[in-house]
Amino acid sequence: MKKRTIRPAKTLSGGVEPPGDKSISHRYAMLAALAEGTSELRHFAAAADCRNTLDCMKALGAEVRLDKDTVRVTGHGLRGLKSSRRALDAGNSGTTMRLLAGILAGQAFTSQLTGDSSLQKRPMKRVVGPLRTMGADIRAREDNFAPLEIRGGRLHAIDFQMPMASAQVKSAVLLAGLFAEGETSVTEPARTRDHTEIALEEFGAAIEKHGKTIRVRGIGNNGTTNLQARSLDIPGDLSSAVFFIAAASMFSDANLLIHNVGLNPTRTAILDVFASMGASLQMLSVRSAHGEIVGDLAVKGASLQGGVIEGQQIPLVIDELPMLAALGPYTEQGIEIRDAAELRVKESDRIAALAENLRRMGASVEERPDGLRVEGRKAGQLRGAEIEPHGDHRIAMAFAVAALAAHGPTVIRDADCAGVSYPTFFDDLERVTET
Ligand code: S3P
Repeated sequence: MKKRTIRPAKTLSGGVEPPGDKSISHRYAMLAALAEGTSELRHFAAAADCRNTLDCMKALGAEVRLDKDTVRVTGHGLRGLKSSRRALDAGNSGTTMRLLAGILAGQAFTSQLTGDSSLQKRPMKRVVGPLRTMGADIRAREDNFAPLEIRGGRLHAIDFQMPMASAQVKSAVLLAGLFAEGETSVTEPARTRDHTEIALEEFGAAIEKHGKTIRVRGIGNNGTTNLQARSLDIPGDLSSAVFFIAAASMFSDANLLIHNVGLNPTRTAILDVFASMGASLQMLSVRSAHGEIVGDLAVKGASLQGGVIEGQQIPLVIDELPMLAALGPYTEQGIEIRDAAELRVKESDRIAALAENLRRMGASVEERPDGLRVEGRKAGQLRGAEIEPHGDHRIAMAFAVAALAAHGPTVIRDADCAGVSYPTFFDDLERVTET
């Protein structure tokens, strides 16, 4: 429950390298545990969430060795997992729970899957539903919440028209599809991050993509296909880099270089949002790595316009919305977020947490069921305040950034919760700020 004080800054300069991408790290860890042999995963996310995934895969029989930010995972093939004696603990991580549910649905044993108090409040029916249709027997508290009991078994392929735009749901069904008899397809209503598809291909699964439909061929009951161990570099997490993009954008003479950032097109909608608001952003040294795209980002200070974020943009910037909302008071027209009711079932009710903390800093906010409207600069400068992140890493980091241009110091309560995705965030931020 450590507090952290953020003092107003004069500007930002220098270089920063965000930790490895959380979404990609989860997927590589899971697939490496299902592959035959030892995979080497370099620049693996330092996030507590991804440690939970590693611990779960270890409890399921994979060998996991950690050496700084390199992880070596030895798997024993698609049929190589063993049942865990104790419940698998996903901690705070929705991705761990939902993706692992897909894998466990295809195993010939029963698993218990649990998480912390926040994760136990998040909806799981969205994955439980399609996994049951594939043949898994799953029990959930109130038929929707963890702890989950997953009695895996023989699965059959389905053609799943996904009712919501969720990469986690898509991934759960595709991972279950690996173990099913036949070819499983998922059609998404709007684009979401495609790291699972890319990673499945890297590890040698039979996967195809046509428009918004992805198909994966399962091994069935006596299939011989296996995934192969791989040696992979994980790009830095753009969702973590965004806190620095936002921070640098607030100071007219800021000059920041963010190294080695993942630039997968299903993640970069946030850069388009920043560019459309007038941010000064340049991609440098763009290269590809194992199907993913990586580059450096040069950010300079700018006068941000603000604007409305809505519709099909929402799933593509879902994790960046807390930072955008907290930037609202530093923009010309303010920020309005619509169609984002999903924010209420993230690590915290992010709409409520944003409204509460923006008001603590003196912002003018209208909270709505599916978003919020934050008034821009004309409503006055923010003042330092005590921030309550509600255990949510992205709320803590978003307000640490907003605090840099506020009047007076800000205290972030329970600042350690940033470690869920970015354990060294406050030190990295301090290193590039001039006070
Ligand atoms: C993630 C998907 C998103 C995102 C989460 C990570 C993933 O969740 O918010 O932080 O790695 O697949 P949804 O699929 O629920 O939108």
